[in-house]
Amino acid sequence: MIIGPSESLYSPRFERLLVSWPAKSSRWSKSGFSWLPPRCYLYCMRSMGLRVLAASIGIGCGGCWERVLRGAWSLSIGKWRSTRAFKMSLAGRATIVAASFCIWAMTSCRTEQTKSTDQNAAISFVGWNSGSTRDAEKVKALLGEFTARTGIRVNYIVGPESTDDLLALYRQWFERKSESPDVLTLDNVWKGILAEHLADLNPYLEREVRQIVPRAAQDDTVDGRLVAMPFNMQMGVLYYRQDLLRKYGFSHPPVTWEELVKMASRIQQGERAQRKKDFWGFVWQGAPYEGLTCDALEWQASYGGGNIIDNNGHVAVENPRTIKALKMAKSWIGKISPPSVLTFMEEDGRSIWEKGNAAFRRDWTWRTPYEKPLSSETAISLLPQDGAQATVLGGESLAISRYSKHPREAAELIRFLTSRDVQARLWQEELVLPVNRDLISDPQYIGAQPELERLEAAISTGGIVRPSVISGKRYPEVSRAYYTAVHSALEGQISVERAVSKLQTDLVNITGLPPVRPHSRGNRSVAK
Ligand code: GLC
Repeated sequence: MIIGPSESLYSPRFERLLVSWPAKSSRWSKSGFSWLPPRCYLYCMRSMGLRVLAASIGIGCGGCWERVLRGAWSLSIGKWRSTRAFKMSLAGRATIVAASFCIWAMTSCRTEQTKSTDQNAAISFVGWNSGSTRDAEKVKALLGEFTARTGIRVNYIVGPESTDDLLALYRQWFERKSESPDVLTLDNVWKGILAEHLADLNPYLEREVRQIVPRAAQDDTVDGRLVAMPFNMQMGVLYYRQDLLRKYGFSHPPVTWEELVKMASRIQQGERAQRKKDFWGFVWQGAPYEGLTCDALEWQASYGGGNIIDNNGHVAVENPRTIKALKMAKSWIGKISPPSVLTFMEEDGRSIWEKGNAAFRRDWTWRTPYEKPLSSETAISLLPQDGAQATVLGGESLAISRYSKHPREAAELIRFLTSRDVQARLWQEELVLPVNRDLISDPQYIGAQPELERLEAAISTGGIVRPSVISGKRYPEVSRAYYTAVHSALEGQISVERAVSKLQTDLVNITGLPPVRPHSRGNRSVAK
């Protein structure tokens, strides 16, 4: 329970009682409160709530309050030796000691989470979806609502778009034990890496975390500490233009990669013939960063090439299926995807999409399909495959820095952002898959987006967890080795076979894990 000024024992009814109480009432004088006018108590109650009530009862009931004050008054004018306060009975003094103990106990023994928040505090917050100005505006509006409700101001920090750059920034801040930022948005693969710098949220959000999907909450628990609060789930999906599919005679989105290539080529050709010279069939995340790890892992797994590290703890990238998958992706460049795709992060693809210059796009469920100006014509579907359904699981959590000076206010912000109400709005307005248990099982929300029901089901069959747990603090190195190898193969600097073979050796060296037998049939297991 939080006891703050607004929730203290002070109430308007109590205020009326005090103000109407006659100052010279005999009952009042006998109780020992007569020296102080009721309004004075009232002021103290308003400003300090419970603590003053405890002090008033403890001291006032012993009848010593007045004497003490008289003593202090006399002391201040130099007559202390003659005052009655210093001739006080032993019982009177004992009462003061007992009352002081009572005040101390009531005000100091409250645990962290029961202390009130400082409503004048300002906290800083590195928000999600950094990099997009428009999304930043939406986040700011939500934070404004939070401030209006709680009085806690929030400085919103827009971080870099690339999650790799954001992680590097966090590491710099943590190294300096910087007090700011207080609240951080974390990629779901970072908990193990940053855990030692994050506050345990259990004392603050113990009740709220029970409302979260258990699997997500478990993922955010490191050595029994809840180091982050799950905020959303994401998965890789295929965005497509329904109007263009209709225009070129396709009745459904592509199920296989081969189909995607055929459809994208046909639409691209047709649109270019109509003077849309910047039109491309398919855009995705090809820059060398975490996003490429996600895209390439989806290609690899959808071809039956499994995960980077398999369930048995073996480095598993060197297999013919992974090679086939990467060759396929390489063949898209310059054909259905622009050569510049090798510099694209999420926002680059989105901006081409919004200009109406692409037929298909790989992105996260996070990005609303109701984006203007194509709102009514954009739809989402499962990613194409070649034998195995695959989608990388993304998602974000909210954490409090261990070096924050305002953990209670920071926890208030997390409580707000993960509340059912806010999660429901993010779901409806932005297609953010919520982590709130109630909401997920509420047919009102699933029913409103029938395609999402299918997507959620796909998570259980084809959801791929990047090997961040098994790699521990080495995960950033593992991912960097992976996307660097993929990128150089896509660029044509090195053959796909050579890139994959070198990658296998690099990963064995980085992780210390053994390799699976090279050129085996590929692994279909998914490392957790
Ligand atoms: C999204 C995902 C995150 C992933 C990142 C890659 O933000 O939620 O898990 O690492 O994209 O760009």
